[in-house]
Amino acid sequence: MKEVKTKDGSITFFNEYFQDVYNSVTGAMEEAEKKFVIPTKIPELAKTGSIKILDVCFGIGYNSLLAIHLAKQSNPKVKIEIVGLENDKEVIEQIIKMKFKDDLKQEYKIIQEAAKACLGLPNKKDKNIKITLILDDARKSVNKLTDLYDAVFLDPFTPKTCPEMWSEPFIKDISKRMQPNSIIATYSCARKVRDAMRAAQLDVHDGPKVGRFAPSTFAVKT
Ligand SMILES: C[S@@+](CC[C@H](N)C(=O)[O-])C[C@H]1O[C@@H](n2cnc3c(N)ncnc32)[C@H](O)[C@@H]1O
Repeated sequence: MKEVKTKDGSITFFNEYFQDVYNSVTGAMEEAEKKFVIPTKIPELAKTGSIKILDVCFGIGYNSLLAIHLAKQSNPKVKIEIVGLENDKEVIEQIIKMKFKDDLKQEYKIIQEAAKACLGLPNKKDKNIKITLILDDARKSVNKLTDLYDAVFLDPFTPKTCPEMWSEPFIKDISKRMQPNSIIATYSCARKVRDAMRAAQLDVHDGPKVGRFAPSTFAVKT
C-alpha cells in the first residue's frame, strides 16, 4: 500500500489492484466528515444517547473515526456500536501501524484496538464504543447481520473499478439492515448507484459537493 498525502494533510493509500485511492485526495478527513458523517446526521443521532452504525468497506476507518469524533463532541456520553465490513487483511494490519499526531489520536486508538481484535491479537475494549470488524466479502457478511442500523456509510472503490459493490442486490441487502428513516451516505452520484438505491426503497438526495463539481449522495430508508 503506497502512502498518499491528501490536500487536508491527512494520509491515505493507493491500492495497486483496484488502481484507486482509499479516500479522496482533496482531503481524506474532510471527505469522511462532509460526505459521510454529516449527511447521516451522526451528531444529531448522538444526542439520543446511542447510535448503531454500519460502515461498509471500512478501509482504514476514517469514516468511523470522524463519526466517533463528532458524535462525542455532540454528546460525550454517547454509546456507539459500529460494525465494519472489510475483506482485506492487509488494510486491517495497516490500521494498527497508523500513527496519528493530532487530537484524533485517542479516538483512532479505539479503531486500532478493534483491528487487533479482528486479527485475534490482545486488545483493550472501550467503555462506550464497541467496534466489530468482520473480515470477509461484505456481500456475504451483510446477510449475517441481524441488527438494524441508524446510519450506513457506503464507501467502496469507484463504481468503475469495483462495480460489484454497487450492485442492486447488494444495496438491497444493505437496505434491509437499515432502520426506518435511517440514512445511507456515499461519495458517488453515479446513475447506476442511485437507481439501485431507489430499487432498494431508498429516497435519494444530492449530498454535499466537496472537492469536485458533482454532488455526493445520501438516501433515506422509506
Ligand atoms: C475506498 S476504500 C474505503 C475507505 C474507508 N472507508 C476509509 O475510511 O478508509 C474501499 C474499501 O473496500 C474494501 N473492499 C473491496 N471489496 C470489498 C468486498 N467485496 N468486501 C468488503 N470490503 C471490500 C477495500 O479493501 C477497501 O478497504
